[in-house]
Amino acid sequence: MSAHLVVGIDVGTTKVCTIVGEVRADDIFVVGVGIEPSHGMKKGVVTDLSALAASISASVHQAERASGFEINRAFVSLAGGQIAPRNSRGAVGLVGNRGVREEDVDKAIENARMIAIPHNREVLHVIPRSYALDGVHTVRSPIGMHGFRLEVEVHIITAPATVVANLEQALRASLIEPDRFILNPLASGDAVLTDEEREMGVVVIDIGGGTTDLAVFIEGSVWHSAVIPIGGDLITSDLTHWMRVPFDVAETVKLQYGHARQKSIGPLETFAVQTFGADGPDEFSRADIAMVIEARTAEIFEKVLEEIKHSGYDGLLRAGAVVTGGCAQLPGIRDLASDVLGMPVRLAKPERLTGMADVLRSPAFSTSVGLLRLGLQMESAAPLNVNGNGTPNIKLGKWLGGLFRGLLPDEET
Ligand SMILES: Nc1ncnc2c1ncn2[C@@H]1O[C@H](COP(=O)(O)OP(=O)(O)OP(=O)(O)O)[C@@H](O)[C@H]1O
Ligand SMILES: [Mg+2]
Repeated sequence: MSAHLVVGIDVGTTKVCTIVGEVRADDIFVVGVGIEPSHGMKKGVVTDLSALAASISASVHQAERASGFEINRAFVSLAGGQIAPRNSRGAVGLVGNRGVREEDVDKAIENARMIAIPHNREVLHVIPRSYALDGVHTVRSPIGMHGFRLEVEVHIITAPATVVANLEQALRASLIEPDRFILNPLASGDAVLTDEEREMGVVVIDIGGGTTDLAVFIEGSVWHSAVIPIGGDLITSDLTHWMRVPFDVAETVKLQYGHARQKSIGPLETFAVQTFGADGPDEFSRADIAMVIEARTAEIFEKVLEEIKHSGYDGLLRAGAVVTGGCAQLPGIRDLASDVLGMPVRLAKPERLTGMADVLRSPAFSTSVGLLRLGLQMESAAPLNVNGNGTPNIKLGKWLGGLFRGLLPDEET
């Protein structure tokens, strides 16, 4: 008996989350989840191979036990380590008066991809943004249309080869063959954005423990992406310095008393915590804690705004921003984000889920869930059977088709 499975492993700075999904008709049914604390990763890059491999193994084994399937390949999230996005164009001549074929599109995209990419970088994604036939912009897909010259504009995302290789090694040490690395914000965007938002122009912002990942979607496709190497850990670390307490105490304080808006906290709200070197517990004002958190959180959104402005698409985000990731649970964050970014903000978590998925209905799991969904949309997500005899790596061309469809919701094929 074999099942059509798709597996996603979100290797985060705070947690590793493995999800096993069974493909039933057009839906993914979650049949197993494994969530374990992550060790050996900082700001989205591997810092301790064996610690990370142990975290991945623990998460995978948990998902195996829950699902009853053996896992040996997966779609894996990636962020951090100088991810570099750039836009490029490619063109192809069309011989004879015939409609554009899929292979013409593939060739134009391949030409766009040929732009100089340093040998020490690896291409993660090549995403078509728009097409033109004989200089005239076409609708979503040019397939079947007539013309002499097809042009494509693509968004290319690269990562340092060493960053990819280290993560690959940690996975292989856990006996996992990565099918494909998927940039965090693309996965998060897939899990939480609506088709309308993507069409109108939106930025998805995933604030995790070590990184803040963002992607700009306009006219249904990805136009810009970035990874900023700060997140919730830095907020906690500020509290450790300010309160003089260990990291785990500061983390508990943040989760229990934290707020991103000092003005929302009354001056008399206090709590007591044991600090370094003190005889008894010290008393803290919640408003002071909120002040520290607000300052750092505002800085994160200022950096996000800088990145959006730098992309040049700041005037095109008519649907505003969608904030997700573990830090989206910080009270007051929506108000602060809206103030700093100067646009409407929605907080989001994965919604469209079936199966054993209750635990995943939190903003911390947007990337994890998105990996599975994007993975499924990748046409070549070869079925993995019970014994794990899945076919090897996915071919680039096929994969492009998959992602292309995934990111252009209204495409007619
Ligand atoms: N209720 C809460 N209030 C404030 N912060 C929270 C809350 N819940 C979780 N967080 C923060 O969210 C962060 C973890 O988020 P998440 O699980 O998305 O990270 P990750 O995916 O492991 O990391 P990354 O994506 O950066 O590699 C931590 O900094 C944690 O303190
Ligand atoms: Mg994350």
